[in-house]
This record gives sequence, C-alpha cells and structure tokens, in this order.
Amino acid sequence: MVMTDGRAVLRGRGTRDERVLDTVLRVEGLTKRYGRRVAVQGLALKLRRGEVLGLLGPNGAGKTTAIAMILGLVRPDAGTIEILGVDATRERERALRRVGAIIESPSFYPYLSGIDNLRVLALARGGVPERRFAEVLELVGLTGRERERVSSYSLGMRQRLAIAGALLHQPELLILDEPTNGLDPQGMAEIRQLILRLAAEGQTILLCSHLLYEVQQVCDRVVILSQGQVVAEGDVEELLAQRTRTALRVDDPPRAIELLSEVEWIERIEQEGDLLLLTMPSERQFELSALLHAHGIAVGELRVQSRTLEEFFLDVTGPSTTPGGRGVA
Ligand SMILES: Nc1ncnc2c1ncn2[C@@H]1O[C@H](COP(=O)(O)OP(=O)(O)OP(=O)(O)O)[C@@H](O)[C@H]1O
Ligand SMILES: [Mg+2]
Repeated sequence: MVMTDGRAVLRGRGTRDERVLDTVLRVEGLTKRYGRRVAVQGLALKLRRGEVLGLLGPNGAGKTTAIAMILGLVRPDAGTIEILGVDATRERERALRRVGAIIESPSFYPYLSGIDNLRVLALARGGVPERRFAEVLELVGLTGRERERVSSYSLGMRQRLAIAGALLHQPELLILDEPTNGLDPQGMAEIRQLILRLAAEGQTILLCSHLLYEVQQVCDRVVILSQGQVVAEGDVEELLAQRTRTALRVDDPPRAIELLSEVEWIERIEQEGDLLLLTMPSERQFELSALLHAHGIAVGELRVQSRTLEEFFLDVTGPSTTPGGRGVA
C-alpha cells in the first residue's frame, strides 16, 4: 500500500483481471477459412481503454467473421484473442463477461415492451440492478417509450434498444456490427450521436461498418479489411494525409509518367484527359515540382486534391489495387 496525501492507494492487489488493464482487446494472427476461401487472414487488432476503433471493409471483407470469432461464436483456425487480459479462446465465458455486443440484426420479442425485452436480456446475463434499466434507456434516448411494444418501434428505436441491451451489464468493451444497417439518414445520425456520447463517457468501442462516413465521424482509428486482410490502418486524418492525390498538368505527359513511375513515394499514377493524378503524400509537392523542373518538364498546374475517406477506401480495397503495389492506370 502506498500513501499519498493521506489517501491509501492499492497497488498490485487483486486478481489479474481486477487490475486496470490498458489494453482491452488484443487479437493476433486471427485466421478463419471456409473450405478454400479465407474469410480472415492473420488479423491483428489492439484496442486500448476508451478508444473507438473502426473495422472497415466492403461486403464480404471478413468483419463479421472476425467479430464472431472474438465473441466465441465461430472457432478460429489460428490466432489468439485476449479480452482484458483473459484468453478468450480458453476461457470464453470469463472473457465475455465484460463484453457487450450487437451482431447482425438483433431480435426481440415483438409483443413485449421495450423494457420487458431488456428484462429478458438481463436474465440471460444473470440479472442486473433494477435502476440499470432506466439508466440504459436514458442513455439511448428511449426514456418514456419503454412501455410500448417493440412491434410498434421504428427500426432506429429497435437498434437503440439493442444497444441498451448490450450495455445492461456495464461492459468494458462494446462491439457493434453494422449498427446503422437498414436505418434512414435520421436514424443513422441518431446512432452516430449515441456512439459519440458513449465514447465521450469513456466507453471502449469496436465498430464494424462498411460505411466510411460513419467511421470517419466517430472513430479515433480505423483498420481497413479487404478480402480478409488488413490493407491499411491508422488515425483517420493521418491516413487521408498520406495518400492525397495531386493533380498535375505538364507539357510532356508521357515523359512525366516515365520519370514519375520511378519515384518510390508516388504510389499510383492515373491519367485523366491531360491531367496526371498522383497518389502521394501531399507534403512532397515541392519535391515533385523541383524534380519535374530538373528534368526539363514544364509544370502548368499542380494542385493537391483533398480526398474523402471514401476515395481512400475505394483505392485501398479496389480490385485493381494490390496492397503496397503501384502502377499506371
Ligand atoms: N458460415 C460461412 N460459411 C462459408 N463462408 C462464409 C461463412 N460466413 C462467412 N463466409 C464467407 O467469409 C467471407 C467474409 O464474410 P463476412 O460476413 O465476415 O464479411 P463482412 O465483412 O461482415 O461483410 P458484410 O459487410 O457483407 O457484412 C465472405 O466471403 C463470406 O462469404
Ligand atoms: Mg458483416
């Protein structure tokens, strides 16, 4: 025991999972094959307390399979999963005690009220204190509607009820698989607001989505999956800055292409009319212009185009792109 300002501070006491662990989820080498098809290949993820991580990828990329393995619903072919320091493949139940999740579309008893559906879910969790129902209903904005039958709820309200259900036992990790699936723009915005609110309260969240806008709005970090493999990961803003596109107009495009194809930091060169579009870090634009000048190529226009995560995403997950590869399109 250490005394600071007269207050006792406990250190190194309690069992391993009672101590505050900074890493809430750690996944390494996670792999799943269905026959000859590889759904997830060597996935590594690390999620720290309080972080909102987006797992992003087009349909069939392997997001749901990855989550299903984390939740013990699908058996991995290889890899390790650790939740709050507990090996989830060996001690599934203990590891999942601190996790709340919604995966694919959650189902409810339509003739029961919202709060009665929560009571059913709470039973499956071994019970929660009575006041917790009001807390989660308030958190997801369903206070006042909880006595209505779920059959009369809108899709957005059902989705919020599902999130309330996942939060009942105050999980340290919340996993959401496509939480805005099937919602209209208003419903999507509500879920986004809810995720931001939970994040602001320090909730650790793993959010799976094929919707870039959603991920860009709420996540600190993204991992982009394509055909089961991670093709990019990092801070959203940094990812975008690394791969901006520079539009270039020169007097001799064929010669410029020949020259620029040899430049290691130019990832991709596309030709659109008389413009060359280069995928490259925006901060190298002066270097680019100096290089062209040094080779006697006159530059008429050089403009950095800001990219949306959408364009970035299409670029890294598109069928024509091999990770790390480059080429002239
Ligand atoms: N039970 C299964 N049997 C055979 N193949 C499967 C099974 N589940 C998933 N797959 C395949 O694994 C790959 C990944 O699917 P998964 O559902 O994980 O993708 P996803 O990223 O969640 O896609 P979506 O955005 O459509 O939800 C796909 O090719 C899919 O067809
Ligand atoms: Mg899915």
